[in-house]
Amino acid sequence: MFRRPRRNRKNEHIRSMVRETSVSLNAFIYPLFLIDGKAKKIAIDSMPGIFRWSEDMVLHEIESCLELGITNFALFPAFEESLKDSRATISAEEQNFYLRAIRAIKSRFPEVILLSDVAMDPYSSDGHDGLVIDGKIDNDLTIPILCKMAVAQAHAGVDIVGPSDMMDGRIGAIRSSLDQAGFTEVSIMSYCAKYASSFYGPFRDALDSAPKMGDKKSYQMDPANRKEARIEAALDMEEGADFIMVKPALSYLDVIHDLSSTFDIPVAAYNVSGEYSMIKAAAARGWIDEGKAMEEVITSIRRAGASVVLTYFAKEFAERAKS
Ligand code: PBG
Repeated sequence: MFRRPRRNRKNEHIRSMVRETSVSLNAFIYPLFLIDGKAKKIAIDSMPGIFRWSEDMVLHEIESCLELGITNFALFPAFEESLKDSRATISAEEQNFYLRAIRAIKSRFPEVILLSDVAMDPYSSDGHDGLVIDGKIDNDLTIPILCKMAVAQAHAGVDIVGPSDMMDGRIGAIRSSLDQAGFTEVSIMSYCAKYASSFYGPFRDALDSAPKMGDKKSYQMDPANRKEARIEAALDMEEGADFIMVKPALSYLDVIHDLSSTFDIPVAAYNVSGEYSMIKAAAARGWIDEGKAMEEVITSIRRAGASVVLTYFAKEFAERAKS
């Protein structure tokens, strides 16, 4: 035998010398859920270790993340049902608690990177990402609502807006609106290949944002499709996206690989709520080793080609790396 691949695995020093994939904290974006009020830190039952934070509390949380080396955050608001309407009106109101919290975070920690969520569902009485008219999602009438929301978020200070709605043509429209408002330096991370997935369940609990009727299949992608992701990616790039995202991550590693090898733009992957909660649930029963499973999952997402990883494990990963 001339070739013995096991020689390169014989001890930890050699294994780390030939290791192809590394995970650095710089690659992480840590999602945080926000609520209105003061001194609130409310646990989310279906996502152990993840909370809804009021503005004052999230400032402490961000401070402790910064000490661990986590510098990038995706912010999601949980609005009360009574504030929602069919046109997501409150999303662009300067005094809503989400935009207030963004301003507070940026004034306290100007160096952090904040990614917003651009979609109607947290603000919509219909619970859909787009405008519902006669029981259908109206793509083109949704676009101006998203543009207004994105500009309001840029105004509040986000570094990157994240359209997660999957309407056609929204990236170009949002880019033009941001530029016209003077926000040429605000980036767009497009939720580009976002699949109609069952793995968003815990997130919808966290935000009370489940659709009131029907499902999201007329805008989110069919899990059976891979080539279609390239159509979405090509369009988003033409329209001015700075990052393209694949979501969820684990059942879509082939899509991450495909987009990152085809397009010369950073690819982000969203390790979503259901993917997080499955590991937490199995670990709580002693069925898997949580720390090792988490590392393996994140490594696989990077190995598939993601530059950026949105994950609820970011803080825990950083804590484990430190200890
Ligand atoms: C909706 C949105 C969703 C997530 C992020 N933005 C859920 C959905 O499309 O219903 C899911 C994230 C997760 O599950 O962690 N705009």
